[in-house]
Amino acid sequence: MNSDYLIIKNLRKQYGGLVAVDDLSFSVQKGRIVGLIGPNGAGKTTAFNLISGAVKCTSGKVIFNQVDITNRLPSHIAVAGLARTFQSTSTYADISVERNIYRGLLSRIQNSSVRQLVGRTQGLVSRDEIDQEIEKLLQMVDMQRWRDVAAGSLAYGLQKKLGIAIALASQPSMLLLDEPAAGLNHEECRELTVLLRSLQEDYGLTLLLVEHHMAIVMELCDHIIVLVQGQKIAEGSPAQIRENPAVIEAYLGAPEYAHA
Ligand SMILES: Nc1ncnc2c1ncn2[C@@H]1O[C@H](COP(=O)(O)OP(=O)(O)OP(=O)(O)O)[C@@H](O)[C@H]1O
Ligand SMILES: [Mg+2]
Repeated sequence: MNSDYLIIKNLRKQYGGLVAVDDLSFSVQKGRIVGLIGPNGAGKTTAFNLISGAVKCTSGKVIFNQVDITNRLPSHIAVAGLARTFQSTSTYADISVERNIYRGLLSRIQNSSVRQLVGRTQGLVSRDEIDQEIEKLLQMVDMQRWRDVAAGSLAYGLQKKLGIAIALASQPSMLLLDEPAAGLNHEECRELTVLLRSLQEDYGLTLLLVEHHMAIVMELCDHIIVLVQGQKIAEGSPAQIRENPAVIEAYLGAPEYAHA
C-alpha cells in the first residue's frame, strides 16, 4: 500500500529572527521507514516538535491519516495514532521498567471511553487488561527480564528501548524517533536496528527516524529527507542520498559521516 500517511505542507517555525524550519514539505507513506537527516541545528527536532504538537507552527500544515492535526494538542495527536520518542532519555529513573510502562499506559486507562468513542484504539479498563498490555509492550522491545529493574540503573541502550516502549504504550500506528541510536554501543545499535525493523514488519508501524548514525539510516530507511538550516535540500533513496553532491557538501562529507 503506497498511500501518503503523514503529509507535511510548507511547515515553518520562526523563533524571533531564526527560521528553525523553513517551508518544509514532504510525505511519508504508510508502512515505510523514512529518515530525516541533517547537521546539528538543521531543525530536525523542531520538525518533530511541530508534528507532535509540542510546539506551535508559525505556518503550514500537518496532515496525519487524512486528518489535519496542525497545532492540535499533543494528547489529541497521540490519540490519533502518532507518537514520538525524545532525543534525551525520558524515563522515570527511580521506578521500575514495568512501572514506567504503566505510566505510559495511563492516558489509555484514564481516557478509555474517549478512545472507544473515537473508535481507534482499545481503552484499558481491568487490571488484567493492563497487565497483558504491559507484557505485550515488554515483549515488543524484548525487555521482559528487566521488568523489575529501576530505569535509572539500566544500561543506556536499554533506557532508550524503554523510551520506545513508553511511546508504543499509546498504541501508535506511526512513531517519530529522535536519535534513538545516540550514545549506543555497537551491539546496542545492532539490537536497535532489529527492533525498528520488527516494529515495521511485525507490528505494521510507519516510522520517521531522525538519526546521525548513517549506517543505521542507510540500512533501515526506504526514503531519506535531508534538512539543512531548516530547509529540505534533497530527498530520495539511500543510494541517491549517499551520492548527492549537495548532501555530501553540507553533511555527509564531514569526517564523522564519511564512512556512510
Ligand atoms: N525553543 C527554541 N527557541 C529558540 N530557538 C530554538 C528553539 N528550539 C530550537 N531552536 C533553534 O532552532 C534550530 C534548530 O534546532 P533543532 O533542535 O531543531 O536542530 P536539530 O536538527 O534537531 O539538531 P541536532 O542534530 O543537534 O539535534 C537551532 O538553531 C536551535 O538553536
Ligand atoms: Mg535534535
